Amino acid sequence: MQVIELSHVIGGEKVLGEATLAQYNPANAADLKVAIPAADQALVCHAVAAAKAAFLRFRDQGIEARSDALLRAQSLINARSDELAKLIARETGKTLGDAKGEVGRAARIFGFFAGEALRIVGERLESTRNGAMVEIEYAPLGVIGQITPWNFPIAIPAWKIAPALAYGNTVVWKPSELSSATAQALMDIIGEVGVLPGAVNMVLGGGETGAAICHHPEVNALSFTGSVATGKKVRMAAAERGVAVQTEMGGVNALLVLKDSDLNSAVETALNGAFLAAGQRCTATSRIIVEEAIADAFVARLSERVAEHKVGDPLAADTHIGPLASANQKALISRQTAAMEQHPGARLVFGGTAEALPECFFAPTLFDHANAADPIAQEEIFGPVAAVFRVADYDAGLAMVNDSRFGLSAGLCTGSLKYAEHFKRYARAGMLMINLPTAGIDYHVPFGGVGASSYGAREQGRAAKTFYTVTRTTYLKA
Ligand code: UN1
Repeated sequence: MQVIELSHVIGGEKVLGEATLAQYNPANAADLKVAIPAADQALVCHAVAAAKAAFLRFRDQGIEARSDALLRAQSLINARSDELAKLIARETGKTLGDAKGEVGRAARIFGFFAGEALRIVGERLESTRNGAMVEIEYAPLGVIGQITPWNFPIAIPAWKIAPALAYGNTVVWKPSELSSATAQALMDIIGEVGVLPGAVNMVLGGGETGAAICHHPEVNALSFTGSVATGKKVRMAAAERGVAVQTEMGGVNALLVLKDSDLNSAVETALNGAFLAAGQRCTATSRIIVEEAIADAFVARLSERVAEHKVGDPLAADTHIGPLASANQKALISRQTAAMEQHPGARLVFGGTAEALPECFFAPTLFDHANAADPIAQEEIFGPVAAVFRVADYDAGLAMVNDSRFGLSAGLCTGSLKYAEHFKRYARAGMLMINLPTAGIDYHVPFGGVGASSYGAREQGRAAKTFYTVTRTTYLKA
């Protein structure tokens, strides 16, 4: 078994600690163990101090230096694509193809923000007081605390770290303990491309380490992606201290399939959203809402297509669906699926808890005839589990799409412009997908949801400037 011993990175230096947490290859625990130390409050203070000490120097290096470093990070991530993807596959169970795609996406995010660093456009106006001028500028906030999940172990860190740096901030980052080896590989790259030491500091650990970042008085803003419960704690900590916060959490995303849609492409859209990446995307489809008239044909075709998908070793080229990320995740998904199986109403079509698979593998699972009382109607199941809800028509389907406290991504399969336009207007979600899967987003446009899914300014694209800068207004008279 390979053992990777991780360390924190503070002020550009590796800081050792006793490993108290571990992650195993979820497809083969005997292949890889990642041994992870957990930063205590004192170490988090040390990291925040390093980020604070680096802040003015980093900002004063100027936009071209930042842009160049981000560009070099893009190149180096691409150059290491194969080894990064392999590490992601072994550490988190993501299939190699998906992992390669994610690495490429992370590289492009660095490239995008290398450009944005050169475009921090302000405004200059005449004052209402004759002879005076007013300037509006977008200045960095200072030290940003970032907490990232394991399901996109390099792309989500990229879309938090790259804009933080592009706009002149410094960072204290805690990656998930399920993807900390990938995080360390990214830190190596950030170190090698000449980002000022201390501009990005990484502290490893679990919830207590994250809490220490959130409550630290000198962390000026918090950016979090992860569970609903932890997101709430992050927001409470931010509210107490009065600092900016953005939290991206879950969804019980719906795909509404109308009878006028192309059946085969609707099935592919549902399959992609519900089962690829083993359903471990906050944008994954859990509720497939289908017009009754085509529901039998839809379920039959979806069952056929899923059967053609191979669940197996993430490193094998012919694998479509890998394992869940950890034994704990598998236990949780199994409990939630068992609750669905026991609930009257919904019927199991394929998969389920009876199909016991080894290691952290979990069979793609579909329920049919689900209704609003089923747990999956309201609770996120972060695995390859989805349910078909049959509805009489578009109106009933839209009402069901909107019957959720979440609102991250909502999809519609239709051949009709009329329904597409109506859906765009009335579906309650931050991201609307017409004839596209609910999951799978671009890197150059804003990302985020409404309701319990997201809080605060949008991430990604040019919208990231809103979170990572503070607006300052200067009045000037010569
Ligand atoms: C995607 O659907 O491509 O944690 C990205 C997540 C989301 C990202 C989804 N924040 O799954």
